[in-house]
Amino acid sequence: MLDMTTTVLLSVLLCVSVVLVSAFVEELDDSFMETKGADEIWLIKFYAPWCTFCKQLDPVWHEIGSEMRSLGSPVRVGKSDATASINLAKEFRVKNYPAILMLKKDVKYNYSGRRSKDGIMDFANRVGGPLVRSLSSLQLFQHAMSRHDVMFVYVGATSQLKGNYTSAAEELIIHTYFFSATREVLPKAVSLASLPAVVVFKDGTYFTYREEDDGTLKAWINRERFPNFFHIDSYTLYAMGESDKLVLLALVKERHPCKESLRYKSLVEKVAAEQREFYSRSFQFGFMEDTDYIKGLVMGEVIVPSLIVVNLSNDGYFLPPDAVETERHLLNFLNGVLDGSIASQGGNSITQRVRRFSYDAKVTLIPLFTQAPLIGCFLVGFIFAVVAVYCYLCCKNRATMSDDDDNDAVATLPRCQKLSDKKSN
Ligand SMILES: *[C@@H]1O[C@H](CO)[C@@H](O)[C@H](O)[C@H]1NC(C)=O
Ligand SMILES: *[C@@H]1O[C@H](CO)[C@@H](O)[C@H](O)[C@H]1NC(C)=O
Repeated sequence: MLDMTTTVLLSVLLCVSVVLVSAFVEELDDSFMETKGADEIWLIKFYAPWCTFCKQLDPVWHEIGSEMRSLGSPVRVGKSDATASINLAKEFRVKNYPAILMLKKDVKYNYSGRRSKDGIMDFANRVGGPLVRSLSSLQLFQHAMSRHDVMFVYVGATSQLKGNYTSAAEELIIHTYFFSATREVLPKAVSLASLPAVVVFKDGTYFTYREEDDGTLKAWINRERFPNFFHIDSYTLYAMGESDKLVLLALVKERHPCKESLRYKSLVEKVAAEQREFYSRSFQFGFMEDTDYIKGLVMGEVIVPSLIVVNLSNDGYFLPPDAVETERHLLNFLNGVLDGSIASQGGNSITQRVRRFSYDAKVTLIPLFTQAPLIGCFLVGFIFAVVAVYCYLCCKNRATMSDDDDNDAVATLPRCQKLSDKKSN
């Protein structure tokens, strides 16, 4: 009898706590945009009922919701079934699941980092807080310095530059923090030729923005928002795409780096530091331990340790033609990439995309076949059927199009490619 009561009590408690926990995360539907308050700041996860990555994110999302609440954060946490609330998903341009976005003053901010609690909380606090954070004392400045590897600071009174800084911050706050301070707050050792100024503190030193040499402030911030040399993972590499820089990577062994790994790493670090003036405009430097992304890029096995230069704007890459033993060899390699004497491999031409598609298919299907041959056969059959239908539709389109204008086969090919590309995503 007693046991019975305890069980009932426990279940009631459990139910109450589940309700409490879910109250931290609000379910949003198509009416959200009309009903939300103008000043509300929202962190929203868009999901689909069938998406397993979305389910994996559920506990993290609940934790974020309850933590935001207990911290008294102004950020409200919501989720929305994108397959049911189609208009809301459309409003936020949701393309894949789970999509993590923030809404603040009618501006939408897309999160593309690692889907961990820390990563998402940091993003939400950054975007949810003030666009430009004012540092009112040397202590606050030093505290901020200890927490950020790269720190942008506007120094001076209100000006046109401040306006440009704020509008750059509005767009780039998804990537980094923006601060402002008066000259008195900064350490005496920082010397600025004139005020106002925008300064980036990183790599143990600082650099001042100069409009004549550096281009627009936004482009400069995009180039400078990473440390000169650091540990790069696939998420960071993806985020670097916007900086328009080539990335020189030392691919090294993960846990127990061999002597050779360490040699490549320190060679790149040395060149990054010593040749900064010549190369930092064109190159980002770093080392990478997880090579899955690079394997996908070169479509094959990669040698570890080794060096590679990646062009993120076109999925191209460069490999050193000879062994890299010394700093001179490495500089020759970088110069060769810049002057075009070393050919780019890979890329995003049509043939490369077809190759990449079949490589991805192979990588996904081979383990499937060895583990579950029947399902594998079924899947391959299914994919074949889809591809066949698309080819048929494409060719039909082509036939009807060449009736009214003389598009040749080359001009219509990308169209087919785009269609099947979309499907493969
Ligand atoms: C602010 O941005 C505008 C437009 O990009 C530019 O013409 C102007 O020179 C910038 N002003 C300063 C002080 O950087
Ligand atoms: C990297 O790709 C971009 C975009 O295709 C291209 O304009 C640029 O020349 C490439 N860089 C090098 C060094 O090949």
